[in-house]
Amino acid sequence: MYNNNEQKRCSDVSHSQTVGVRGPVLVQDTVLHETLETFVFSTTRPRRIHTKGYGAFGYFYTTHSMKQYTKAGFLQTTNQQIPVAVRFSLASGNQGTPDTSRNVRGFSTRFYTDEGIFDLLCNHLPVFFVRDAIRVPDIISHLSPSPVNNLPDPERLWSLFAKYPEATNMLMWLFSDMGTVKSLRHIKGYSVSTYVWQNAQGIRHYVKYHWRPMAGVEYITQQEAQWLACQDPDIAGRDLYDNIEKGNAVEYELCVQLMNPEDAKLLPFDPLDDTKVWDENQYPLLPVGRMVLNHNPENYAEQVEKLAFNPANLLPGLEFSDDKVLQGRTFIYPDAQRHRLGPDFRNIPVNKQPNWSPSCMVSSGNGRYVSGEIMRSEIPNPDNFAQATQKYESFSAAEKKNLVNNISSGLIDAQPNTQYIVLCHLEQVSPALAEMARNQMLLYADTKEK
Ligand code: HEM
Repeated sequence: MYNNNEQKRCSDVSHSQTVGVRGPVLVQDTVLHETLETFVFSTTRPRRIHTKGYGAFGYFYTTHSMKQYTKAGFLQTTNQQIPVAVRFSLASGNQGTPDTSRNVRGFSTRFYTDEGIFDLLCNHLPVFFVRDAIRVPDIISHLSPSPVNNLPDPERLWSLFAKYPEATNMLMWLFSDMGTVKSLRHIKGYSVSTYVWQNAQGIRHYVKYHWRPMAGVEYITQQEAQWLACQDPDIAGRDLYDNIEKGNAVEYELCVQLMNPEDAKLLPFDPLDDTKVWDENQYPLLPVGRMVLNHNPENYAEQVEKLAFNPANLLPGLEFSDDKVLQGRTFIYPDAQRHRLGPDFRNIPVNKQPNWSPSCMVSSGNGRYVSGEIMRSEIPNPDNFAQATQKYESFSAAEKKNLVNNISSGLIDAQPNTQYIVLCHLEQVSPALAEMARNQMLLYADTKEK
């Protein structure tokens, strides 16, 4: 124990050590060094992507037993409450990117179950840009500012959609008004990647997870998003925090789509392709449970910034599929976290699991027989445009008009060759869409000349 004199000695540190009252500061001042070095090293390295985010906490309860499909303990019986931690994020950009920017929102949930941690990483749009993890670093660089001057570069962005025709479905979702959001209480969440559920009898199903906001889905137009970006760049985080602070719990329903793996042989697309959705009429959403977010972080740095979500944090009965994006993700998250949080990141309180060892990781697919020639190849049925067409045709006239405006107001600033290729892709989605985008770009070009 320390006595009062020692405490006083330790707290008297508001002046650097100098020679005389106004003399030079001494290099030997260990108190000064310790204070400044603590400051320099006190921040956590930002995430490589999904940098800007907000956290909230609460609980999940199962409303429908999923025993028939998975042996995961927390999904066997109804009504038991499990603590959860959630982090909402913007997939691209930095800490200063406006919440309303056209962007993919991340929606990650950690379930602290009796069997260990289960992390469910979702995005607010159901499809991804590409179907193979090996293309993702290039995608991220297309979505990043110019390395020359750190400014957004339309050619960088639009050459992504020219280079990767499979990103056309994502183009329909991201450049519709679904790409702009002002409240996280009103977004959906989609696992995008396909996982596997296995029941106690060893029967496997493919599974896609969905969160549905109980307060209803809401998006905003590009004009409103741009206006709000100036008014309050942190509007979505503030809205989440203020609502929870006022006692308005934020709730989502968890649903799943399940598929017999044999169906893959019959479908016109590959169900493990992340650029595709599964038809909700053919594979209806089954309700699983409810999440209630009812308290805010008390220490953002410790409780949210240090959360280390990992799609490989699975439980017996919850596994990976052969989805090529998901398989690439299986090891990159803990790699990123070792770099970002240090090798001891699993012992940080928000990440800690009692008695954890590597053998607690779930090895997917035990017992399956797999054979074939080793190769690097495109999947047999890439089917790059059919679902983009379906999505476009599902929009109302007003939604189509906004999509055209959102695409053409950006594409106009790309290089002519990039514009040409993107318009060819749009032609494949719908000749009418390509025609409207072309005409709108001519109008923008005229206005710019004047
Ligand atoms: C091969 C493809 C992908 C790679 C290499 C990748 C990589 C990463 C990395 C390195 C992080 C930061 C992790 C950290 O520092 O804690 C991250 C975060 C995240 N990723 Fe991915 N990702 C990929 C695809 C996806 C997909 C398809 C989704 C769709 C659900 C997704 C959702 C997220 C979310 C929600 C976060 C934020 C997690 C948080 O809030 O901490 N990622 N990703």
